[in-house]
Amino acid sequence: MANDKVSIHGVWASRWVFVLAATGSAVGLGNIWKFPYMTGVYGGGAFVVMYLLCIALVGVPIMLAETLIGRRGRQSPVNAMKSLAIEADSSRRWSLAALMGMVAALLILSFYSVVAGWSLDYILGMGRGDFAGISGDGAGAAFGKLTADPWRLTLWHSLFMLGTGLVIARGVVAGLERSLRIMMPLLFVLLLVLLGYSLTTGHFMQGFDFLFHFDPSKVQGGILAAMGHAFFTLSVGVGSIMVYGAYMPKKASIGATVLAVGLLDTLVALTAGLALFPIVFAAGLEPGGGPGLMFVTLPIAFGNIAFGQLMGLVFFVLVAVAAWSSSISMLEPAVAYFVERSGQSRVRVTAVLAFICWLIGMGTVLSFNVGAEAKFFVFGDDGFHLYQWGAEGGRNFFDSIDYLTSRILLPLGGLAFAVFAGWVLKREVVRDELAIGHPLLFGLVYWLVRVVAPIGVLIVFVAELTK
Ligand code: TRP
Repeated sequence: MANDKVSIHGVWASRWVFVLAATGSAVGLGNIWKFPYMTGVYGGGAFVVMYLLCIALVGVPIMLAETLIGRRGRQSPVNAMKSLAIEADSSRRWSLAALMGMVAALLILSFYSVVAGWSLDYILGMGRGDFAGISGDGAGAAFGKLTADPWRLTLWHSLFMLGTGLVIARGVVAGLERSLRIMMPLLFVLLLVLLGYSLTTGHFMQGFDFLFHFDPSKVQGGILAAMGHAFFTLSVGVGSIMVYGAYMPKKASIGATVLAVGLLDTLVALTAGLALFPIVFAAGLEPGGGPGLMFVTLPIAFGNIAFGQLMGLVFFVLVAVAAWSSSISMLEPAVAYFVERSGQSRVRVTAVLAFICWLIGMGTVLSFNVGAEAKFFVFGDDGFHLYQWGAEGGRNFFDSIDYLTSRILLPLGGLAFAVFAGWVLKREVVRDELAIGHPLLFGLVYWLVRVVAPIGVLIVFVAELTK
């Protein structure tokens, strides 16, 4: 069962480049921004436990499934699934799952770019010394001022989208490798420095307890969010990892490689949490404050320590880079697909897709200011409204896209990928690709992909819909 197909888009130099690229995709705003604030919102340790379980039992098995589908298919996710389904005498409609994932990835990119843009603004602010000696109130006000200004948000959003498009247009293989080799370790070192600082705040144990104290009464509310976040942080469920798998060299064990990516991603998230919460408590703030956590609490810390401005500057540069190495992985599945399908140049395809994402992202930009009252998915007293201006409940544009992708599209996509790898592909194909030597270990992993991951997703998904 040899696999001798070749991707027309290129092949990574080694499997380490895959680890680098997949970790670059996985480690991003999800780890540094979203994980800490969600832990805050969903009550700390209970959320962390759910998150770790979701990663191990569902996230990593799905990542395995995606990687092996990609490497076996050697094409964009849509075409990889189509050709593998035909090969396995199954329905080519399986490719619809990849198509849905592709759209989800573009939707995620649309708001991801806006938030990544915030970090660009903070690079400038840190560079100018805006945050020197800033108070908690001052930092909150500065963040409020940024999000209230649609023009400023649009500027940074445009810049970030442009940067994402430029890398993709040049080709991922050539552009990615060199920068990631420098930036990823640097990000890691800076997180450790930040962790070191939080150790000196005198509130480290309070932060530690918050992150790891398990309160079973809080499990309920956070479990759906934890599952959604497990998908988000590992970049699975949309084909990002699948498309990177398609560029993986033939002779590389997928099992060990994917495990490394999952572990690295989790490590970064926990480190970010451990670094952030003590600073939050030291500043006398509450960690339940939602999305503003990174953009309000960190500036306070940086504004009040020696060399903080410089460190803050470097930190936000690295956040931007982490976001950038993630954002490209959201655009790549669609670009690869349309290049294959249309035969148009990569540059042209990238320009069109990046523009569409930019346009959708404008909805997110406006949801923080003039469009804040535009609500979607409103369950009011008078029934359900898809859209309503100024409704009491419901979600604004940003929250809606975040909800639609994290809670619905990612789990559905992941479910389809796991079922496809576990039940449609032949057992020998999976064994051949995973290259896990020990038969018992292979059996366990295969069982996780076939049974545990799909059931896990289904339970959580049904619970979400019937809530
Ligand atoms: N995992 C990235 C993060 O944590 C975001 C990301 C990249 C992503 N590619 C994705 C999320 C695909 C969902 C789907 O920031």
